[in-house]
Amino acid sequence: MFLGFDFGTSSVKALLVDGEQCVLADAAEPLDVSRPRPGWSEQDPEAWWRAMLAAVDALRAARPRELAEVRGIGLSGQMHGAVLVDRSGAVLRPCILWDDTRATAECRELEAAVPALHEVAGNLAMPGFTAPKLLWVRRHEPEVFARTSHVLLPKAWVRHRLTGEMIEDPSDASGTLWLDVGRREWSDELLGATGLGRAAMPRLAEGSAPAGALRPELAARWGMARPPVLAGGAGDNAAGAVGLGAIRPGDAFVSLGTSGVLWATTDRYVPWPRGAVHSFCHALPRTWHQMGVTLSAAASLAWWSGVSGRPESELLAEMPPPRAASPAVFLPYLSGERTPHNDGAIRGAFAGLSHGADRAALTQAVLEGVAFSLRDCLDALAASGTVVREASVIGGGSRSRAWVAIAAAALGVPLHRVVSGELGGAFGATRLARLAVTGEAAEDVCVPAVRAETVEPDPALAEAYASRLPRYRALYRALSSLEAAP
Ligand code: XUL
Repeated sequence: MFLGFDFGTSSVKALLVDGEQCVLADAAEPLDVSRPRPGWSEQDPEAWWRAMLAAVDALRAARPRELAEVRGIGLSGQMHGAVLVDRSGAVLRPCILWDDTRATAECRELEAAVPALHEVAGNLAMPGFTAPKLLWVRRHEPEVFARTSHVLLPKAWVRHRLTGEMIEDPSDASGTLWLDVGRREWSDELLGATGLGRAAMPRLAEGSAPAGALRPELAARWGMARPPVLAGGAGDNAAGAVGLGAIRPGDAFVSLGTSGVLWATTDRYVPWPRGAVHSFCHALPRTWHQMGVTLSAAASLAWWSGVSGRPESELLAEMPPPRAASPAVFLPYLSGERTPHNDGAIRGAFAGLSHGADRAALTQAVLEGVAFSLRDCLDALAASGTVVREASVIGGGSRSRAWVAIAAAALGVPLHRVVSGELGGAFGATRLARLAVTGEAAEDVCVPAVRAETVEPDPALAEAYASRLPRYRALYRALSSLEAAP
């Protein structure tokens, strides 16, 4: 038996699988995001811990005997967040999350201070990444910075509580801007540019390698006779890839989670900071990936649900199957955008509204806006030489066939819906747990996910979106020049 956790932004998921990789039980506990100021996005790490304990209690209620037999635990986590802890391990301030844009000025500072940044870290400095956040804390909260002993990504903080050890894996560490991504080790130069050293970092272990053991008191609480081993685990997108079996060069997927991602596995380190492409380590040794990230995917639908006062399921149900583009256009830049703009200042918009623009038309525009932002990611990857011709689709949004059909038409590639695709990183985490315990070959465990349906791009819709795309892009340019104006 293996246990996987995904510490997401909107929930903590827990998943119990058996030796045949069959899902025996799953549980999810919701999380809130606090946005105390425009552009800020924070969570209290304690909330992840409480949600995890509640999720395991639910698994235990459903499958006590199987939970007792767990041999390995895998962690998948939202990336980039900065959890600052002092020498005693106490958390010094709320975690600054991956979609927080307060550190825009610090990105420029970092780029100027380290000319080799793009080459070593493989990425542009973007405000959601961890290093610029630390520069922000140093400037605005110097007393917190002075007391910071370690900086941990969300799942590394959870691991510390689970095992007592500070360990991180290279896929998640890639999102800090402190990793030499090609060498898969911390970079003293990059750390030094934010006033930190290696002593502030957890040690690194590959995602599929053993990385700590569960504290005996937690094992006892969960009815486990022997404390299970933890795997290094992965950032949530890399964990999603492992769950899908996207471990060979060229394997691609779209994630319609809180954020949206277009991912392609690579066998080499291929930095392509132009177009704000992310080049990161994968969760398996000697494997890397590229991805384009749009910051508000399912988060856009959640926002629209809040504004319109209707549950997401109702909004999706009242929308007729899309046959033509919505008359309205939505720009999903609620917390700025990463790929291809790296623009923390831009904000979202509806355009093209008429008296006829009803709620269903605006819901469709929201789904289309996210699909266009993924199309921008597809084109950014293509410019680097990574051409995506088909992709699987995972994340909560993949439950909506209409959204997948819209995305397939906007991207112009077939999208494969997979069985249990909404489980995302949690399932990949169970596979990493298994690899850490058994030492099996990754190809034997990370087999391709079972396809439930392939959604081909609808030709009429694809044509409609192809002629709409220039307007979507022109709107970004127009809005960004307004944001830049005094
Ligand atoms: C990836 C990213 C998001 C978060 C969401 O770079 O910022 O996908 O990992 O949890």
